[in-house]
Amino acid sequence: MRSATTSIAIDRDRLLHRLGELAQIGRIQGTSGCSRLALTDADRAGRDLVRTWMEDLGLTVRIDGIGNVIATTHHGGGDGPGSGPAPVMAGSHIDTVATGGRYDGNLGVIAGLEVIETVLAAGVELHRPLAVGFFTDEEGSRFPPDMLGSLVYAGGLSLENALAIVGIDGAVVGEELDRIGYLGPAPLPGPAPHAFVELHIEQGPVLESEGIRIGVVEGVQGISWTELRITGQSNHAGTTPMPLRRDAGLAAARIACFVRDLAVELGGSQVGTVGAITLAPNLVNVVAAEATMTVDLRNTDDVALSEAERRLELCVSGVERSEGVTVAMRRLAQYEPVSFDPEVVAIVEKVAGQMELPSRRMPSGAGHDAQMMARICPTGMIFVPSAGGISHNPAEHTEPDDLEAGANVLLATMLELAEARW
Ligand code: GLV
Ligand code: MN
Ligand code: MN
Repeated sequence: MRSATTSIAIDRDRLLHRLGELAQIGRIQGTSGCSRLALTDADRAGRDLVRTWMEDLGLTVRIDGIGNVIATTHHGGGDGPGSGPAPVMAGSHIDTVATGGRYDGNLGVIAGLEVIETVLAAGVELHRPLAVGFFTDEEGSRFPPDMLGSLVYAGGLSLENALAIVGIDGAVVGEELDRIGYLGPAPLPGPAPHAFVELHIEQGPVLESEGIRIGVVEGVQGISWTELRITGQSNHAGTTPMPLRRDAGLAAARIACFVRDLAVELGGSQVGTVGAITLAPNLVNVVAAEATMTVDLRNTDDVALSEAERRLELCVSGVERSEGVTVAMRRLAQYEPVSFDPEVVAIVEKVAGQMELPSRRMPSGAGHDAQMMARICPTGMIFVPSAGGISHNPAEHTEPDDLEAGANVLLATMLELAEARW
């Protein structure tokens, strides 16, 4: 037996091979991306594959009531929650948006598995177990809110309420979990790991544009998602005088333009997106009776984010009056900005330096399971560059050298955390 050392390294080919195999499931024809919306048949097939890999390594695999899957080594003598020291855990998600790439989420899970296989193969002795998990419905695009599985794991939402969530296609979380065979018995909220580390692609342009290999993530910006249902009156496009219209489509367009202007005006890290609009009846010669749209607002500054929410509400009231429509607003997600644990952040920075990988500290623009795990244990994240800053797009790409570097930083970080005695 050897004691923990950073002289071991992950197996690059094995990492790339597994990423490639998982990406075949739900593959979008003619691209290297995939579509595995949460709790669909494609998600089930991806889950089954990763679970098989976990079991093949002899790990103890547990599935909880929201379908999170967590695999743990037997280091430290325990055999599961409460029976030994808490594990150092890696993880992320394997669900994707409908137009997903192959790395978003998947990298953090496959790299965590790779770290564990490397440690087991090298016979490294550790005082506490390592674990790797994938959380249900991180993307939230089928079943809002995002980070659903990790939110429930961390005790931020009751299992009962989570299982009752209705998706954009009318499906219900609990029924879909049961249908795909992932309504597991492990209790929730889940046990707190000793520490949690998530490797993820940056999904933005900063690292690539600055020629930096490793992002040392200090925190995640706050997220606010709102659904707006606008009701106007359907009427003839040729005969209805402009001043007499109650046009839900126009109201949606006004709000969408407002969101853009709001983000520009607030400045700083504020961003705003209208990613979905549907009109009914959605016909060329009919004034729209209804519009359903989403607004995604994000900011690293919680006060500024609340101000953005307030101004959106004011805008909506104004549009109701000026366009003669009514608007029902429903909050789909609301998460405060999160700061990661300074000691975990410092370890990531230190090990990147030891590997002579240029790094920089940065916030995350995207939401991540790590922001939920930060509620229950010391947590950090590692970013690797995204080519062209492109993500949530089948064209998403990260260079193999960067995937390998990120996985090695994850390995060294987890080993250090497994040795650390806090
Ligand atoms: C989820 O991954 C998000 O950032 O939207
Ligand atoms: Mn992700
Ligand atoms: Mn994503």
